[in-house]
Amino acid sequence: MKILVINGPNLNMLGIREPDKYGSETYEDLLAKIGSHCQTRGIEAEFYQSNHEGALVDRIQQAYFDKVDGIVINPGAYTHTSIALLDAVKSVMIPTAEVHISNVAEREDFRQVSYIRAACCFTVMGHGTDGYLEAIDYLQETIGEK
Ligand code: DQA
Repeated sequence: MKILVINGPNLNMLGIREPDKYGSETYEDLLAKIGSHCQTRGIEAEFYQSNHEGALVDRIQQAYFDKVDGIVINPGAYTHTSIALLDAVKSVMIPTAEVHISNVAEREDFRQVSYIRAACCFTVMGHGTDGYLEAIDYLQETIGEK
């Protein structure tokens, strides 16, 4: 089973950016944490981070040709703006889970919209970086049942 973990803009700044909201773990710490979680579960994990919307679309499309089984995505601020990411996830028909480190439901009004959510089978928010692991477990359970 192959899972692609995609992080959008500014998530490469984890550990530096707003630690009160996003914690003190760095992006590298996050990859190591997800990597070891996947290893113990026999999941092959691939990682991608970009600050650019079109590059994220390209990577989602590539997942179709790479025969990725599931996608975990934290689209960062593009969550609240990007119809292109929504359409990309719909295009590839790969089970996709949406992750937010912070609890966006309790933040500013402009964070209350998630375009990508309509194409996602699972959403987790406010569980810190553990949310990525929950999303992976969800995908493994649901994809494994098929
Ligand atoms: C975020 C929440 C978004 O609103 C924000 O723009 C981010 C990170 C989160 O993980 O909590 O960049 O997706």
